[in-house]
Amino acid sequence: MTIVIVGAGIIGTAVADALTLGGADVTVLDMRSPGLGASQASAGILAPYAEAEPHSPLLDLGVRSLSLYDAFVAGAAERSGRAIEYARTGTLQVALDEAHAATLQAESAWLREAGVDATWLDSREIGALEPAVSASSRGGLIIRSHGFVGVRSLVHALMHSARFGGATFESPVEAADVIVESDRVRISAGERSWTADAMVIAAGSWSNRLKIRGASLPAVRPIRGQLLHLRWNGADLPRRVIWGPDCYIVPWSDGSLLVGATVEDVGFDERSTVDGMRQLLDAASALLPSSARASIEAVRVGLRPASPDGLPIIGPMPSMPNVVLATGHYRNGILLAPLTAQIVSAYLLRLGA
Ligand code: GLY
Repeated sequence: MTIVIVGAGIIGTAVADALTLGGADVTVLDMRSPGLGASQASAGILAPYAEAEPHSPLLDLGVRSLSLYDAFVAGAAERSGRAIEYARTGTLQVALDEAHAATLQAESAWLREAGVDATWLDSREIGALEPAVSASSRGGLIIRSHGFVGVRSLVHALMHSARFGGATFESPVEAADVIVESDRVRISAGERSWTADAMVIAAGSWSNRLKIRGASLPAVRPIRGQLLHLRWNGADLPRRVIWGPDCYIVPWSDGSLLVGATVEDVGFDERSTVDGMRQLLDAASALLPSSARASIEAVRVGLRPASPDGLPIIGPMPSMPNVVLATGHYRNGILLAPLTAQIVSAYLLRLGA
């Protein structure tokens, strides 16, 4: 079965890898280079209980996808021969005032009832566990199954694994028009075109730029996230993701930190701003006072693809079984990549059988 995937971010590369493993003949088109859209800015946090509301469909998807992560990372690393940074050292959500502490304590109670390994810590216990956290914290919630992954290394490993399986990656190619027939799709980009049995739209915030004759794509809009890459100068580098009221901080094994992220509805504007940086620096200093001594390594900006209801859009277009959507993952593209790849590849491989 021949399949064209539009988009070579975390979702496109994960789907490409899963499809090649299933024996499909895959071509991936990207308007930039693989992993240079939202994926390159992502902090790679894997934290469904911090991102989703209790008892929500998003939580269910996130928990299922997290359970696939060990095998997903191990498989991509083994097949590609590339190392992927991956740690399941938990998240520590820190309250800096009483109201936030009450919210986190309530969350802690329902998580424990649901059988999740979560513990409420008072500020003295936080000081013993993560000495860099502000001494004026009002306590925090540790969720041990959470973690983070190095997104660049993961995207590249998935791409190389898919290539070893026979996939072709072409960039820069901005796919523009799609003509769908019952058993074929034809995708054009300028003078070039590709014909395949089926296609997958995994172009994140840019998904709507594709024109499909006779159909309109669901609205996905960009929500900007700015992040700061810092180098920690001093003792007590955090050992796990620290999540405060206004930022989260991811500690890498090389001694650097990612501080994220702003949430801004500013269209396709990928610039960083003074206001965004100020917001992140203030939030990081309130949470980890000694981060004021850190040096600034880089600023990253990405556009999260937000769907109208905040849920990912995964599955065939109405009345077009050979055009499959895998977009709109908003804040959870990295977390939901293994589950999305599993759903999309199972569907398409069955369609082609
Ligand atoms: N998942 C974190 C973010 O989108 O900022």
